[in-house]
Amino acid sequence: MASITIRNLDDEVKELLRRLAAENDRSMEEQARVMIRAAVDSQTGPIGRLDQIERTLQELAGSHSGAIPAAAPAGKSLPRGSLANKRILLVIGGGIAAYKALDLIRRLRERGAAVRVVMTTAAQEFVTPLSIGALSADHVFTELFDRNDEHDVGHIRLSREAELLVVAPATADLMAKLANGHANDLASTVLLATDKPVLMAPAMNPRMWSHAATRRNRAALAKDGISFVGPTKGEMAESNEAGEGRMAEPLEIAAAIEAMLDTRAKPLAGRRIIVTSGPTHEPIDPVRYIANRSSGKQGHAIAAALARLGADVRLVSGPVGVADPSGVKTIHVERAQEMRDAVEQLLPADAAVFVAAVADWRTEASAGEKIKKVAGEGPPVLRMVENPDILAGIGHHKQRPTLVVGFAAETHDLLRNAEAKLARKGADFIVANDVSQESGIGPSGVMGGDRNRVRIVSKTGVEEWPEMSKDEVAARLAALIAERLKTIVV
Ligand code: CTP
Repeated sequence: MASITIRNLDDEVKELLRRLAAENDRSMEEQARVMIRAAVDSQTGPIGRLDQIERTLQELAGSHSGAIPAAAPAGKSLPRGSLANKRILLVIGGGIAAYKALDLIRRLRERGAAVRVVMTTAAQEFVTPLSIGALSADHVFTELFDRNDEHDVGHIRLSREAELLVVAPATADLMAKLANGHANDLASTVLLATDKPVLMAPAMNPRMWSHAATRRNRAALAKDGISFVGPTKGEMAESNEAGEGRMAEPLEIAAAIEAMLDTRAKPLAGRRIIVTSGPTHEPIDPVRYIANRSSGKQGHAIAAALARLGADVRLVSGPVGVADPSGVKTIHVERAQEMRDAVEQLLPADAAVFVAAVADWRTEASAGEKIKKVAGEGPPVLRMVENPDILAGIGHHKQRPTLVVGFAAETHDLLRNAEAKLARKGADFIVANDVSQESGIGPSGVMGGDRNRVRIVSKTGVEEWPEMSKDEVAARLAALIAERLKTIVV
């Protein structure tokens, strides 16, 4: 059997592979396999559009080029990825989440960025400048005035030389300082002195995050043009603490940075697109609800990918543990009826993508008080009624968006079920997931996991996509939507 040696490929092809591999978090060999598989599919698929999509994706990736970032260690070139040549100033605040800054620096550098770091005094209680400097391959700045430091470049230069300032973790204190214009240490001074965009990844105790003062500061900062990623809900690093306040994961922060620094073509500029994502929670009583395993990862990734192509994305999300994607307006709902109302209020739109795993049924009436166990009475009987089908409602709506895309997770008769949903719900495409055990990914693998294998079912046929990451499914679907909106004449 023939084999390919990456080393023997043309330099240009190697470079492209390296870039795409870094962007997709794959080895170069794996990236080559995925691309060859996609090329084969594009030759054989009845819709035959995969090659076009791949071309669009490559065109979109095409503007990543340029010199090796300044911070690359001598004689050693870093992969030129989606952040090649970008200079980022990372401000690390003092919180337990500071340890995640180490991974964030690694993620940014493997995407080709040069990362300079400013640490607050409190941050140095959690991670040392030595380990941060080892990862950033640069001097770490800690003092506002340091006449003895040969690296002292001054706060103005520090903040102006970067293209983006990222604060991670952004503590309540750092947020309060910037919201009120304080500048009494290096971190707060560079933030106040900058003329560049600022992204904050807040991390703090849930009570501090929900405190009226922090809410006020967050609103003031947003009004001043500061962008945010996270925080998310979940277990905090401190034991016995859970709630909203957990810093977004380094990969989520890296994605938000990519979106902010993205200067690529925006084929979806001026298009409004609605996306639904996550599960819905249908209450039984004030403390119990009916839910499903949807994580929101695929829907959120699609919303982010559409926003990267310039769309004005409105994401209607059920309760999920992933961060609101940056650059997307997110509306949070719990129940199917709330999701339906939110989607209808967002019409008109150019396209709508229904990724949410909406509960098919809800209890007829949720109990006002917690249902108690009563000795001898046995379990309660829950009467269920059907929830509105949001996709079908929009697919047949008088203000139907030009392009309507649905999802279908099936364990059997995948194509037959997907084709039936396509017709019944009035969609243009159904993205069908094979969640059977035989698919190798399985229901618990797709729902909650990071990988997906889908087929695109439309009136003109079925196109099979290879197994890939959810981010990659999202990027391809966004490119496909851009292609379709370009060719549809209304
Ligand atoms: N959907 C929706 N509203 C619902 C149910 C589903 O908008 N009440 C959307 C989903 O977001 C998805 C598509 O319809 O895009 C298919 O969802 P799925 O759960 O697979 O289909 P159902 O109609 O619920 O059919 P079944 O559960 O019987 O497979």
